[in-house]
Amino acid sequence: APTEGLVVVSNREPYSHSFDGDEITVERPVGGLTAGLDPVMRRAKGTWVAWGDGDADREVVDEHDRVGVPPEDPSYTLRRIWLDDDEVEEYYYGYSNQVLWPLCHSDRGRITYEPRFWDRYREVNRRFAEAAAAEADPESLIWFQDYHFGLAPRMVRRELGDDATLAHFWHIPWPTWDDFRVCPQSRQLMEGLLANDLLGFHVDRFCAQFLEGVDACFDDAAIDWNSGEVHRGDSTTLVKSFPMGVDTDRIERLAGSDEAEAFWNEFREERGIADDAVVAVGVDRLDYTKGIPERLRAIEYFLDSHPEFRGEFVYVQKASESRSEIPAYQEIQKEVSETAERVNDRFATDDWKPVVAITEMLPAESLYGLYRHSDLALVSSVRDGMNLVAEEYVAAQLDNGGALVLSDFAGVDDTLGDYAYTINPYATKEFAETVHRAITDDTQERRERMRHMRQLVTAYDLDAWMDDIFETAAGLRDETTE
Ligand code: G6P
Repeated sequence: APTEGLVVVSNREPYSHSFDGDEITVERPVGGLTAGLDPVMRRAKGTWVAWGDGDADREVVDEHDRVGVPPEDPSYTLRRIWLDDDEVEEYYYGYSNQVLWPLCHSDRGRITYEPRFWDRYREVNRRFAEAAAAEADPESLIWFQDYHFGLAPRMVRRELGDDATLAHFWHIPWPTWDDFRVCPQSRQLMEGLLANDLLGFHVDRFCAQFLEGVDACFDDAAIDWNSGEVHRGDSTTLVKSFPMGVDTDRIERLAGSDEAEAFWNEFREERGIADDAVVAVGVDRLDYTKGIPERLRAIEYFLDSHPEFRGEFVYVQKASESRSEIPAYQEIQKEVSETAERVNDRFATDDWKPVVAITEMLPAESLYGLYRHSDLALVSSVRDGMNLVAEEYVAAQLDNGGALVLSDFAGVDDTLGDYAYTINPYATKEFAETVHRAITDDTQERRERMRHMRQLVTAYDLDAWMDDIFETAAGLRDETTE
């Protein structure tokens, strides 16, 4: 099996333990990759190496920092890495999220670079690499996740030699060389990644931009622009796109559940949203890449230019705070709440508010209920690796009823762009007009678009995405062992 002996390396862990009084409780994977990989890991009986950041995480591990998961029926191993405060500050908040995150989202203005960030990033990569190598055997496939581990692949390669198969999925964009070369360690990072046999990005554009960087940086790299192979010394890396999918079966099931329905009815009643209101939904981590202020400005413009929708249109915003120790995140939180307040102050009446915010955590049933019953979703990222919210919204449209308003700058626009209502988040007026069109288009047109998108999202769901990566990696492994 292609996943036999699988070792996954990610920053976030799939299960975290925390204290609830004297009791220890477990938090489960809620969405995306961690939830999707969990069943694969159960089958593969592999090992997952991740940062143990739960406050009770240390209580449940053995002397090798390992714990069997899922807790009620352990079938694979979670190997926890402990980070002290300096490491969290400099590796996680520092290099990962104040250098690489803005850098890869082409946002130079938000890069805060300090030399100590890099030193610590390298050190923490080393610790993860050592743990991964210790958990692996020569037959292993080691699969790195995301921008937290730009250096670890090379370290693991040195440790394990050429027989191990190393794969990496970079979940965020890869920028143009002109943007990437502002990074003082651009070369080291690319060198780290080229130790992988397989390097995946969401869309072809990011692959091309990575190859362009390799071409500019290394005189000794031979690039096959058609296949995406990079040859350097005796190593070969296949650079390939795998547009990530979501767990459509689960989303459909939960979106159609009684709990989803009950949540929606209660929510509408509590928030005074009329039965026949047009409801738009936005769900994001509160991040400056998501274009939330731009979205609110477009809504303001829409209500200005289409007064007939005042009292009729409601935008439900579920924005969850994230990485709050970083000043840029504090600023975006402030800007979003001030902009929302301003829009409400301008237009709200006694029985209607245009912007309704959800601040509490929602169980998956409620979230998918919200998706299912909203007339449109607004995804307005100014840059985004893929954007799985767009796909989840589509998967939850059991009646093909909703419309997806989607930024041209989200990776997912490369797969859904033909059928979504595409916008440029900065073009406030056109954005507002597109919202208007999405609402007023004839039902047939809207359903056709949604039907096509659902087909696409269902055909390449999370399982298909993973199978694609594992099969590609297995193919490369066979080549090296032949
Ligand atoms: C993005 C990244 C993930 C990350 C997630 C949440 O989707 O690609 O790697 O886990 O954001 O961010 P956090 O910093 O809380 O892990």
